[in-house]
Amino acid sequence: MITTQEIQQIREQIRTWRTKGETIAFVPTMGNLHLGHITLIKEAVKRADHVVASIFVNPMQFGANEDLDAYPRTLEADKLALSDAGAELLFTPTPEIIYPKGMEQQTYVEVPKIGDQLCGASRPGHFRGVATVVCKLFNIVQPDIALFGRKDFQQLMIIKTMVEDLSLPIEIVGIDTIREASGLAMSSRNGYLSETQKSQAAVLKQTMDQISNAVKQGASLDLAIENGKQALIDSGFTPDYLELRNAKDLSFVTDEQGELVILAAAYMGNTRLIDNLCFTR
Ligand code: PAJ
Repeated sequence: MITTQEIQQIREQIRTWRTKGETIAFVPTMGNLHLGHITLIKEAVKRADHVVASIFVNPMQFGANEDLDAYPRTLEADKLALSDAGAELLFTPTPEIIYPKGMEQQTYVEVPKIGDQLCGASRPGHFRGVATVVCKLFNIVQPDIALFGRKDFQQLMIIKTMVEDLSLPIEIVGIDTIREASGLAMSSRNGYLSETQKSQAAVLKQTMDQISNAVKQGASLDLAIENGKQALIDSGFTPDYLELRNAKDLSFVTDEQGELVILAAAYMGNTRLIDNLCFTR
């Protein structure tokens, strides 16, 4: 696997592949890779001739009081895992390479209708940072397809919307959430949890299962959500939000039709975890 910080080297390698008519899949990450990320790489291998990954802890998507500096960086282990899984090219830019103008950058990508609610409301500017960096990475790599986890449901929807609205010629593929045996969704942030907190955190998935089961059995949506919030609090979480929405566009649920999604964000100690569950009534 070739690893480079240089945009030019990425472009040259892509051009070599393109002139041979070969296809390219892209998996952007922030590193500290776990089985969730590696599953995206393995899916990418199945879907294109070459797989490009990136590792970039994007400062633009972190708020002032968030964990940018503490975010785990494990480049050597990540490189091994990526090349084992079949990635051939790894882009590891510095913030200066991605944002040469620093604070002077004037152009951003915003997807406000989807992006200003839920995680966007709790983390102002987060999705602007995500959409902007993903757009830049797409322009550097110019892949045929790009793979994202459904674990970050709102992020995936924002990327799909951006690609549609800006006519980017990239197919966006969503991959199911990879979980620990306990049900806890794998996340780089799980590393912040103590063993006790980790076992308590499994309640997040159990709570979403309980809500979906209750709703399928005809319970009132509001009551199911209220009970869910209480279950989270009882197991040591401080809920940020717990909501039921239409899965196709995150709109509020007003009728009996269609697929629903439970979206959850909750603090276990200082660690903010997110998860979601899609189901049909
Ligand atoms: P990061 O959190 O490193 O995640 C990279 C990709 O892995 C995302 O598409 C995410 O949804 C996916 N992923 C994370 N945990 C997963 C799990 N348990 N199962 C399946 N997929 C999982 O998301 C980001 O980075 C950044 O916001 C990024 C898109 C790279 C932009 O900076």
